[in-house]
Amino acid sequence: MPFPSDTDPDLEVERLIADEYARQTTGLQLIASENFTSPAVMRATGSVLTNKYSEGYPGKRYYGGNKVVDSIESLAIERIKALFGADHANVQPHSGANANMCAYQALIDQGDTVLGLSLDHGGHLTHGSPVNASGKLYNFIPYKVKPGDERIDMDQVRDLAHEHKPRLIVTGTTSYPRRIDPEPFKVIADEVGAYFLYDAAHLAGLIAGGVYPNPVPYADVVTFTTHKTLRGPRGGCILSKAEHAAAIDKSVFPGWQGGPLENAIAGKAIAFREAQSPQFREYAKQIVDNASALANALANEGFRLVSGGTDCHLMVVDLRPFDADLTGKEAQLVLDEAGITLNKNTVPDDPRSPFVTSGVRVGTPSVTTQGMKEPEMVEIARFMARALRGRADAGELAKVRADVAALCAKFPAYPQGV
Ligand SMILES: Cc1ncc(COP(=O)(O)O)c(C=O)c1O
Repeated sequence: MPFPSDTDPDLEVERLIADEYARQTTGLQLIASENFTSPAVMRATGSVLTNKYSEGYPGKRYYGGNKVVDSIESLAIERIKALFGADHANVQPHSGANANMCAYQALIDQGDTVLGLSLDHGGHLTHGSPVNASGKLYNFIPYKVKPGDERIDMDQVRDLAHEHKPRLIVTGTTSYPRRIDPEPFKVIADEVGAYFLYDAAHLAGLIAGGVYPNPVPYADVVTFTTHKTLRGPRGGCILSKAEHAAAIDKSVFPGWQGGPLENAIAGKAIAFREAQSPQFREYAKQIVDNASALANALANEGFRLVSGGTDCHLMVVDLRPFDADLTGKEAQLVLDEAGITLNKNTVPDDPRSPFVTSGVRVGTPSVTTQGMKEPEMVEIARFMARALRGRADAGELAKVRADVAALCAKFPAYPQGV
C-alpha cells in the first residue's frame, strides 16, 4: 500500500516547515537554550530508526531485530563517556526534564529533602518548582544568589545543607550567567552525607569544548540536554559514577520511559563525535567570547547585566536602567517584530511576575554556529537598542528587521541547505 503522502504530499505541513526555516534563517536566534544542529544530525533523526522498538539496553532488549540499533546506542554511550570522562552513560532520556526525574528516582526516595537553586534566581522548573513533579515528589529547599554580586551564595548553600540535612544537592542553571565551580558543592555534599547532582543542560557544550569546569569528577550524577550548547538533536543524557549505573538505567527504563527514540540516539552519537573535534573547541570558546562582547555592547547601550556580565553563553539583561517602563514581555514582542528572537526572564528578586518580568535572557550559541564574531555582537546590541527605543514606530522596527535580515544573509546557518 502506498503511503498517502506519496501521491498527495501534506503541503500544509511542508509549507509550514518552510516558513519555520525562513524564520530561523532570516532572523537572529538569541534564545540561550537553542542552536542549529548539523544536517548530519537531522538526517539521523529523520531516518528509518524512528520505526524501531528497542525497549531495554544494548544486548538486553525486549524485541528482536536490534543488532544495528545496539551498535548505534553503544557508539553514543562510548563517545559521550570519552568526551566527559564518565564511568557510565545513559543516552535514552527523551529530554532534560526526564533526565532529572530519572536521576532523582535513582538516588533518593519520595519526600526526601533536596537543595536546589531557586527558579527566579536562575534554576530550572525541575529543581523543585511547586508546579513541576519534582516539587510535588520531593521536599526542595531553595538556595539563592547574593543580593550584591548576584552570584550563587555558597555560604547559604552550606548553612541550608547543615540545617536541613538534604539527601541530595542539585546545582546547574537555566539563566545564571556565571561560572559554577563544582568542587565546593561536592565538599558541602560530603559534609552532610548528601548525593550531588549537577544539571549541565545549558553547559554541556561548553564543558565538552573545554571552556567551562567539568563536574563529572565531582558529581554522583550529571544530567544534560543534547540540543543546547552541545548542538545535537533534542534529547537528554545522564552520566554517573559506576556505583549508580544500575539504578540510573532502571530508573530510565522501565522507571520513567518506554521505548527509546533510537533516531534521536543516532543523532546524539553524531553530535558527540562532532563535539570531540578541534573545531568544536574553537566553537565553544567563540560562544563565550561572543557572549562577553555582546554583554559589553549591551552595557554600552544602557542596559544592566545581572551580575555585571557573563562567563558562559548567556546573559540576563535588566531592562529597567534602559527604560523603567519597558517589561521583558514587551521587549520580547517588540524584538520579535524586528526579527530578533529571545525570551523574557526574571531578574533576581524581580518585582514583576514571571509572565511580565523586568529582563530578557540572551544567548550566543546559535549566532556563533552561524560564524558571527565580536564585531557582529556590537551590531546585534545596536539592533536591540534601536528596536526597543523605537518600539512605537513601525517604520523603525521594519528598518531594524531589514538590517537583521541583511546580517543573517551574510552568515547563513546552513550554507549548503538542509
Ligand atoms: C537547567 C535545565 N535543566 C533541564 C532542562 C529541561 O530540558 P528539556 O526542555 O529538554 O526537558 C532545561 C531546559 O531548558 C534546563 O535549562
